[in-house]
Amino acid sequence: MKQLRVPGPTPCPEEVLRAMGRQMINHRGPEFAQTLNNVTDKLKQLFQTKNDVFLLSGSGTGGLEAAAVNTMSPGDKVLSVSIGVFGDRFAAISKEFGADVIPLSFEWGKAADPDAVRKALKANPAIKTVLVTHNETSTGVTNDLAAISSVVKEAGKLLVVDAISSLGSIDLPVDKWHCDVTVTGSQKGWMVPPGLAMVSVSQEAWQANQKAKMPRFYWDFAKAKSYLEKGETPWTPVVSIFFALQVALDMILKEGMANVFARHARIAKTAREGVKALGLPIFAEESHASNTVTSVAASGGLDTKKMLKILREEHEVVLAGGQRTLDGKIFRIGHLGWVTDGDIKEVLSAIKKVLPQAGFKE
Ligand SMILES: Cc1ncc(COP(=O)(O)O)c(C=O)c1O
Repeated sequence: MKQLRVPGPTPCPEEVLRAMGRQMINHRGPEFAQTLNNVTDKLKQLFQTKNDVFLLSGSGTGGLEAAAVNTMSPGDKVLSVSIGVFGDRFAAISKEFGADVIPLSFEWGKAADPDAVRKALKANPAIKTVLVTHNETSTGVTNDLAAISSVVKEAGKLLVVDAISSLGSIDLPVDKWHCDVTVTGSQKGWMVPPGLAMVSVSQEAWQANQKAKMPRFYWDFAKAKSYLEKGETPWTPVVSIFFALQVALDMILKEGMANVFARHARIAKTAREGVKALGLPIFAEESHASNTVTSVAASGGLDTKKMLKILREEHEVVLAGGQRTLDGKIFRIGHLGWVTDGDIKEVLSAIKKVLPQAGFKE
């Protein structure tokens, strides 16, 4: 595949792939302890946090489930700020475990309005926790997390953030923005394969954890903490992904966090401008358009499914379609992790060639 540009899994650099070809080691031995401590310390830098960070073997959704079950009890009132598929998923997980979820949903393509969050918290003082998606991958929208966080913290609530497709690519200073639990996933901006959810846990989240009664076994933060103290994970970890992550984190730190964020911002701009130059509208409201995924609205008779098929079969360019009600209505270009300006220009020129074959008339 020449260009895998879905919003995760993302391509991995050669060095990262090579790291995974290593022989297995004892996950309860000193070498793994060194690796675990090394990646945990580096992740803390990239999360911009002094809080605990845990590496959980599982996908991002596992991390979201962990965030819910470790901080809530059945019956707890939880405000779900949702702007798309993944916001809805976080709400569904919490509901499944018995939370009393109060939905605050916004039109897909738009960002959440911090004032509406303030009103919802005022109207329901019993709310304990607020769930927010930082970057909604399904619509290509990034919420103003700093503003939402200040509303949530003004009201004294716990803030639980799905940062799966933003952390590491878009600036998210976890401590500065008082995120109590922040979840990300290895297959997004981290340039490694799927397999790890990484989560930060604040002191306030630990206080909530003391009282949280939702059932948990595999995803127990307390177990993760006690094992981390001896350089282990409670369960057999995805050892090869740890090897990969160690190399990828070094690459990110070498490039420099600010440079990584700037590269994502620049490439996202190239993607948006390129798409508009082809005569296609951006689906996301542009003031909040994501730096990791660009959503493009189908217009001018464009058959997005046909376009994606031709791109894949004839140009080796793989993009994503729309999810749920956006199926057939949008397509999405992932530009996170290991991505250059040249990659996106290649994608744009392939799209340009294919548009007329897929029914598009400007
Ligand atoms: C914002 C967001 N939340 C949650 C998920 C789910 O993560 P996973 O597919 O790793 O379980 C994704 C993955 O696409 C995502 O982008």
